[in-house]
Amino acid sequence: MTGVPWEQLRQVAEEARARAYAPYSRFEVGAALLTDDGRIFAGANVENASYGLSLCAERSAVAAAVAAGVRRFAAIVIVAPGPAPVTPCGMCRQVLSEFAPDLAVRSYTPEGGLLETNVAALLPDAFGPGHLRGAD
Ligand code: THU
Repeated sequence: MTGVPWEQLRQVAEEARARAYAPYSRFEVGAALLTDDGRIFAGANVENASYGLSLCAERSAVAAAVAAGVRRFAAIVIVAPGPAPVTPCGMCRQVLSEFAPDLAVRSYTPEGGLLETNVAALLPDAFGPGHLRGAD
C-alpha cells in the first residue's frame, strides 16, 4: 500500500489509549492497525489483577482485526507515554510477524516523539508459519 495515513492512525491510537485498562502499571498504550484494504483497527492494553495476563495494545489490535476477518496488514501506530517512543514487546513482535513480517511501525509519545521501524527489523530471523509447513 502506498500513502499510509499516519496522522489518522496516530489519532485512532491516541483515542484508543484513552480507553486502555491499565490500573496496575498506569502505563496506558494505544495502537492502530491499518489493513491492506484501508481499514483501521484500534487496540489498547488490557491489564489483569493476575499481572502476567496483561494484553498489550498491539496484540489487542491484531485480535480485533482477525476477529473481523482481516489478516493482511500494512502498518501499525503505537502511542505510549514515557521519555522515548516504545518498541513492541517480544511477544507482540512475534504476533505481528505471524501476519505481517514486513509491517511498517511508527511509535509515538503523546508529545510527538517518533520512532519509525518495521517488524522485520524488530524481529530478525523470525520463526513463522513457513517453518511448520512440511515439517512432518
Ligand atoms: N505495553 C503495551 O501495550 N505495548 C507496548 O508496546 C509496551 C507495553 C503495555 C503492557 C502493560 O500493560 C504496560 O504497557 C506496561 O508494560
